[in-house]
Amino acid sequence: MLARLPERVRIYEVGPRDGLQNEKAFVRTEDKIRLIEALASAGVAKVEITSFVNPRWIPALADADRVAAGLSGYPGYAERFTALCPNMLGLDRVAHTELREVAVFMSASESHNLRNINKSRDETYPKFEPVFQACADRGIRVRAYVSVVWGCPYEGEVDPAEAVDVAARLLAMGAYEVSLGDTIGVGTPLQTRRIIDAMAAKIPLEKLAMHMHDTRGTALANCLVGLEHGITTFDASVAGLGGCPYAPGASGNLATEDLVYMLNAMGVDTGVDLEKLVAAGALAQELLGRTLPGRALQALAAANH
Ligand code: HMG
Ligand code: MG
Repeated sequence: MLARLPERVRIYEVGPRDGLQNEKAFVRTEDKIRLIEALASAGVAKVEITSFVNPRWIPALADADRVAAGLSGYPGYAERFTALCPNMLGLDRVAHTELREVAVFMSASESHNLRNINKSRDETYPKFEPVFQACADRGIRVRAYVSVVWGCPYEGEVDPAEAVDVAARLLAMGAYEVSLGDTIGVGTPLQTRRIIDAMAAKIPLEKLAMHMHDTRGTALANCLVGLEHGITTFDASVAGLGGCPYAPGASGNLATEDLVYMLNAMGVDTGVDLEKLVAAGALAQELLGRTLPGRALQALAAANH
């Protein structure tokens, strides 16, 4: 028997960032913009449009500045759009855009942090401090990710206490929300319950979001556990695009269509028009020239023909 579910859920769309960062073929800037606009018009609460990281590390998003500029004037830009930003160099680039929100990221394991950010966790906090400070001064909201909470590609199991510590510290630094990442998609529902219980002892649940990769098909089951605990923000990626280039095997974020299909059908309000979302998923497939993993997308796109 399901516990009472929240009435409303926010969908935080990461496809144009988490999805495209992993693609070998470079998607043209104007096509990225078309995809972002299609997603925004489907009604997702937020779209993470790109990443202001070192373009040598993530060449697929080397056009971050042009993507952000090309969306200028889009209705609700400041409330709707956000981007990844790891340091002050990134924030200096963000300063030339209309973005009023950014996201920093840190790993629950030391090895993934070293591979992903080139620094230990203790070396990373001081890089974030001026970002939080400058964002507070400029009225920019900061979200924070904690990666590899459910398991690390280099260390295996991760103690939930490590993730709680990182999440609590990032919130204390000024993050408005922490998104817990199953970066390599290994999580299972009982583990999710243990992680959320460990978090709940130290962190108000309304400050938490879930960011599940669907590598082993367990993402929706894990989200359901989160929903039953009252978590109301979920990250997902159009058509199930995604992965982290610094986490081997991190294919496939939870597909936004799969999540929205399930929530809509259970009467949980997402604010998303599933038909328009499926059109955005079809556009993602067209731009990448292949069938993408999202299952509701395949079923609904076929039904529309
Ligand atoms: P570093 O090499 O240690 O940085 O990289 P540095 O400060 O020593 O600078 C080295 C060079 O990078 C310099 O250039 C800087 O200018 C440049 P050079 O003098 O050699 O020509 N640089 C930059 N250029 C543009 N924009 C910047 C920037 N910063 C430095 N912001 C750094 C440190 C963090 C930058 C690097 O490691 C990096 O870019 N990492 C990004 C990795 C990444 O994007 N991973 C994927 C996202 S995380 C993820 O997918 C997980 C998530 O989805 C949640 C989940 O699934 O769990 C969020
Ligand atoms: Mg991710």
